[in-house]
Amino acid sequence: MNAQIKPERLRLGVNIDHVATIRNARGGDHPDPARAAQIVSQAGGDGITVHLREDRRHIRDEDLVRVQQATGLPLNLEMAATDEMVEIALRHAPHAACIVPEKREERTTEGGLDAAGQHNQLAPIVSRLREAGIRVSLFIAPEARQIEAAMRLGAPVVELHTGEYCHAQGQARADELKRIADMAALAAKNGIEPHAGHGLTFENVQPVAAIPQLAELNIGHYLIGEAIFTGLEASVQKMRALMDEAR
Ligand code: PXP
Repeated sequence: MNAQIKPERLRLGVNIDHVATIRNARGGDHPDPARAAQIVSQAGGDGITVHLREDRRHIRDEDLVRVQQATGLPLNLEMAATDEMVEIALRHAPHAACIVPEKREERTTEGGLDAAGQHNQLAPIVSRLREAGIRVSLFIAPEARQIEAAMRLGAPVVELHTGEYCHAQGQARADELKRIADMAALAAKNGIEPHAGHGLTFENVQPVAAIPQLAELNIGHYLIGEAIFTGLEASVQKMRALMDEAR
């Protein structure tokens, strides 16, 4: 490889849902997710991710507008595959929409989307979002059949679920990392841009960040939790530095 050519920078999308979780605990307007979005921008984040859940447990509809107005960073809207969410996405026109499975009782998005099993439900949603110029991503487990389903659906992006990797230890973690790397390569070979996220921390991010085909990581809970101790700017800057170092 030509030493002059630097691998493309891995983008960091920061999920600011849990700023809203803390705000909602008191029902007021502090801490403000829009202010968090501005700090992410100053700290070297490349995008803002929010998950507008059916039960509005953290981010609310009005936050979408305020976050979009607060920074020039691209907004990635995580959303369930429902008519209500599609209408909201079309109204707010985020840069990207990541379709996730959503169960009301889960604490966070637990598994990947079954893109293979839900083709007929997802196909019109992917088409409508794409026709509106929104970059559609599918949050899937790192499995070949899910990548193939994303190809059939015409999704330009997949986000590979890193939750299993983050929970596993030893050889199981190494096996899961290989699965993510293989599926990132399979996606890229087939013209789909692979992203990854869920459960990433300072301790576990670098092996994932080193996977050359990955274009973006979306990280939330750990960064917002760490911000309690170090501030959001320092938390994002440290993640950014670790990701850069891994490339
Ligand atoms: N990507 C997707 C699609 C998610 O649903 C989540 C969690 O909301 C994340 C990334 C971020 O995960 P975490 O908060 O564990 O960093």
